[in-house]
Amino acid sequence: MYLRLEKISKRFNSFVANENISFSVDAGKIHAILGENGAGKTTLMNIISGLYQPDTGKIYLEDKPVKITSPNEAIKLGIGMVYQHFMLVPQLTVAENIILGIENSWRLNLRQKQQEIAALSQAYGLEIDPAAKVENLPVGIQQRVEILKVLYRQAKLLILDEPTAVLTLTEIESLINILRQLAAAGNTIIFISHKLEEVINLCDTVTVLRRGKVVATKTTKEVTIQQLAELMVGQEVALQVNKSASITGEVIFSVQNLQVAGDRGIPAVRNVSFELRAREILGIAGVDGNGQRELADAIAGVRSIINGKIEFKSFCIRQRIGYIPEDRQKMGLVLQFSIAQNLILKAFKNLPFCRHFLLQPPAIKNHAQVAMAEFDIRATGEDIKVRQLSGGNQQKVVLARELAGEPDLIVAMQPTRGLDVGATAAIHSRLLVERDRGAAILYISTELEEVMAMSDRIAVMYRGEFVAILDAQTVTIEEIGLLMARGTCRG
Ligand SMILES: Nc1ncnc2c1ncn2[C@@H]1O[C@H](COP(=O)(O)OP(=O)(O)O)[C@@H](O)[C@H]1O
Ligand SMILES: [Mg+2]
Repeated sequence: MYLRLEKISKRFNSFVANENISFSVDAGKIHAILGENGAGKTTLMNIISGLYQPDTGKIYLEDKPVKITSPNEAIKLGIGMVYQHFMLVPQLTVAENIILGIENSWRLNLRQKQQEIAALSQAYGLEIDPAAKVENLPVGIQQRVEILKVLYRQAKLLILDEPTAVLTLTEIESLINILRQLAAAGNTIIFISHKLEEVINLCDTVTVLRRGKVVATKTTKEVTIQQLAELMVGQEVALQVNKSASITGEVIFSVQNLQVAGDRGIPAVRNVSFELRAREILGIAGVDGNGQRELADAIAGVRSIINGKIEFKSFCIRQRIGYIPEDRQKMGLVLQFSIAQNLILKAFKNLPFCRHFLLQPPAIKNHAQVAMAEFDIRATGEDIKVRQLSGGNQQKVVLARELAGEPDLIVAMQPTRGLDVGATAAIHSRLLVERDRGAAILYISTELEEVMAMSDRIAVMYRGEFVAILDAQTVTIEEIGLLMARGTCRG
C-alpha cells in the first residue's frame, strides 16, 4: 500500500465534512475520489496535502504512520497537490514558476534550471517551453506546469482536484495520457472528477463519498457509470432528462437583427433574429466562443447592443427576466455575502425586506429559509457565506434569486457547468418546472447532449450567427455537430 487513510474525520464547527474515512491506494495506481458537490472531497485532499489537520484518524505512507503538519511537510513526504492554473504567477516564465519557493535566488543558474526542467518534461512526455511566460499559455499547458512543479519537488503521490473542469476535450485527452504515463512510471495518483466516464476510463479504483462518508470503494472494472452515479447521490438517478413535450403558448419575446460587439471590436453577434414562446425552451448549441456569451448578456441587459431590437410583446405586462450567468462566482453572487444577503440582492430596497429605509432581518431570514428548503440549498444556516458553499449549492442560490417572482423569460448560460449529476438533475428539473408554468427559456450550453435533452427547439450559433433553428424532436446529434463545427451540414 502506498497510501492508507484510517478513520479520518474533520468538522468545521458543528458541520461534519469528513467522517471516519478509510481507504488505501497501491503504488503506481490511479485512484478516483468521486462525490457530489459538498461531499467532502476537497477537505480530504487538503488534509492529505497538509493544509488542514484531521480531528481524528491516521495517515500511513508505505505502511508507516505520518503526521502531515503543513504543505511543506507534505512535499517532504513526497505528496504533491496539483493546483489549478491560478496558483501560478502569470508574469513569470514556466521555469521561474517551477523553481519558485525552493531555490535560493543568490546562487541561481537559470539557464541550468531551464535545462533540468526541459529534461524532466521530456522524461514524462510533458511538452513545454521552460522560457515561455505563463500568462501566454493556454490553461491546459499551465496545468502541465503545475504537474511539473510537483514532479520537480520529487512528489511520488500526486493529487489532482477536478483537473478537467477547466480543460477542453483535447486538453483532457492529453492530461489523461500524461497521468497514465506518470502511473506507469510508478507514481501514485489521486484523481477527483465529476465526470463519471473519465473516472471509469482512467482510474484503477474509486472511492465514492456521500455527505462526508465513504459509501463504497471499488475497482473501476466492476462498476458501471450508472452504478457510480447512484452511489454518489444515493438514489436512482436519471442521467436522461425526463421531459414531456411542451404545449407552447404565444410568442412573448422577440429579437430582430441583433448585433452585439465583442471584446476585440469585431461583432460577436451578427444578425440574430428569433422569437420565443411561453412554455418553450430554445436551446443554443455551439462551440464555446461563438457569440453565446455576448448574446446572453445583451438579452439580460448587461451588455449594450450595436443594432437591432430586443423586445417583449406588449401584452406581456411584467416583462421580467431571470438571468443565470455563466460565471456564477463573478457575476451571479457576492461571495463574501451570506446566503440570505445574496438571495435579496435584487430586492433589498423593497418590502418586506426593507421598511422605512431599514432592512428587516426577520423577513430576510424567513425568505432565505423558505428558499433554502424549496431549492434544497444545503448549508448549516442562512447566515453562511456563499464562498463556503459547494458549486452546486452556489448555483442553487443563483436560481432561487433569479427565479423568484416568476420571470417571463429566463436566460440560462451553462447553468450546470462543473456541477455533479445530482445538482445537474436538480437544475434541469427546476427549469422544466419553470417552463411548464409558462416561462420562455433561452438555454445556452456547449454540451450538445444537454441542449438536445432540454430544448424544444435548437438554434446553432456559429461565428456570431444563428446558422439554423431546428426542431429538437427530429434533428440528429450528427446534424447539429456538423453545424457547430462548420456552420453548414452540406458536403
Ligand atoms: N473552511 C471551511 N469552513 C466551513 N465549512 C467548510 C470549509 N471547507 C469546506 N466546508 C464545507 O464542507 C463541505 C465539504 O466541502 P468540500 O470538501 O469542499 O466538498 P467537495 O470538494 O466534495 O465539493 C461543504 O459543505 C463545505 O461548505
Ligand atoms: Mg471540491
